[in-house]
Amino acid sequence: MDNQTPLLTARGISKQFAGVEVLSDVDLDLMPGEIHALLGENGAGKSTFAKIVAGVHQPTRGTLALRGETLEIRSPLVAQNLGIVLIHQEPISFPDLSVAENLVLGRKSGNWLSRVPWAEIMQEARALMDMLGVSIDIAAPMRGLSIADQQMVEIARALASDARLIIMDEPTAPLTPREVETLFDIARRLREEGRTIVFISHRLEEVRQICDRVTIFRDGNKVATEKIDDLTDDDIIRLMIGRPVQKYMHKHRAEIGEAALDVKGLGLPGKFEDISFLVRRGEIVGLGGLVGAGRTDVARALFGVAPAQSGTIAIDGKPVTIHDPSDAIALGLAFVPEDRAVAGIFSTLSVEQNITAAIPGKIAPGGFIQRAHERDLASKSVKDLSIRLASLSQPIGELSGGNQQKAILARWLHTDPEILILDEPTRGIDIGVKAEFYEMIGQLAEDGRAILLISSELPELLTLCDRILVMSEGRLTAEIPRAEATQENVMQAAVPRTGAAA
Ligand SMILES: Nc1ncnc2c1ncn2[C@@H]1O[C@H](COP(=O)(O)OP(=O)(O)OP(=O)(O)O)[C@@H](O)[C@H]1O
Ligand SMILES: [Mg+2]
Repeated sequence: MDNQTPLLTARGISKQFAGVEVLSDVDLDLMPGEIHALLGENGAGKSTFAKIVAGVHQPTRGTLALRGETLEIRSPLVAQNLGIVLIHQEPISFPDLSVAENLVLGRKSGNWLSRVPWAEIMQEARALMDMLGVSIDIAAPMRGLSIADQQMVEIARALASDARLIIMDEPTAPLTPREVETLFDIARRLREEGRTIVFISHRLEEVRQICDRVTIFRDGNKVATEKIDDLTDDDIIRLMIGRPVQKYMHKHRAEIGEAALDVKGLGLPGKFEDISFLVRRGEIVGLGGLVGAGRTDVARALFGVAPAQSGTIAIDGKPVTIHDPSDAIALGLAFVPEDRAVAGIFSTLSVEQNITAAIPGKIAPGGFIQRAHERDLASKSVKDLSIRLASLSQPIGELSGGNQQKAILARWLHTDPEILILDEPTRGIDIGVKAEFYEMIGQLAEDGRAILLISSELPELLTLCDRILVMSEGRLTAEIPRAEATQENVMQAAVPRTGAAA
């Protein structure tokens, strides 16, 4: 096959959900040996297009052809047999099976007569992990893995199958910079082998680093397919959102008040130790560091999900004990977790139920849910956060990834928290609404709330925070006031000192 024949041809692909058109007449050619980015705002239709190609959804209209041959991709299994693999935005592994079982699932178990070839499975799984350069215990169940590691397993699984077309839907969001590099090396190797990769991401730098061509979606329409080198960032943003992005200036200096959260010597064996810091009213304190440095563990301890074993916590100067999240909520804490699939979303419940889930007292005084009130609160959030949806009563699982994220943030804002812990709040949020998000977080601080912001994105920490704490390997390694913070000094404090530092 010459390199001019597209591997996959999409013509006039349209998709409706319950009468609402979310993709309209999309034409797209994917060539062998290219890495092709899909860009667009939250809800633009990227994941939907990916799922159609991977047999998860059927198009309402339009055709797909593989190497010029028109066909129907009726299920993910059919797609897999055709050499098309989708790595989902939300990992869908089997949490109770081991990593090794997840890796080889669907390939070795075909023959019910044969015994499961365990030795072979383990060996192959180990080889895959070595190739990816990650050290994950392949005998452990998936459940205990961090999302970054789960993602790596998903990627390994795609690589293990002999796929010609690999679609990665926001694969880098939970990865450390090193893991991203590893992934990109692998992607380049696959491209050299003539395979096709579709890469979905909200990070333009990554797209520039790895992709050959980009396709931009807006409101379910394809608005452009170009070589990445032919477009400037401004071109891309204009095509994506049809207006220049609002620049976040930075918060009006909020009145910095009394200490709201005072943490001393917090420790949890194996996770973090000797963590001491203050967050004052009106202050946004950043918590930087690499994925896996223990930042999320500290947040979970503060919120009572997995409490610390040593140290003290004081709120507004009073010592408190937080055994579980209900203690934390009663004390005025809110926690927006990074891993919405596990800790945030009730995916079969409606958007409005999800938004109001943390305020039963407000919507159901005396135990009876006041539907109208619930709906008012939810529709205000939808407007404030420009959440894109068909209806408030649709299951939240039907929303695009970024819009689910916004709904979970809305849930916690309704609790009127005094202390707000945000863990990677803008992961998966498009550039168009990031500035609005920052504006909102700034406003919350101005209103006198104390905010602890965990983020792996340095520019985000630098624009938003009054002070930046940095963690590395379970310990605080730096505390940098805004005026002195730079990408370099934050990075430096984040890189582990032990072992081979970069
Ligand atoms: N199963 C479904 N039922 C109803 N609507 C759906 C379903 N899946 C997706 N949609 C809608 O289709 C639109 C496009 O969603 P899609 O997930 O493709 O967006 P996306 O571009 O991937 O966004 P993001 O960047 O947030 O991940 C959204 O408005 C979404 O709510
Ligand atoms: Mg998506």
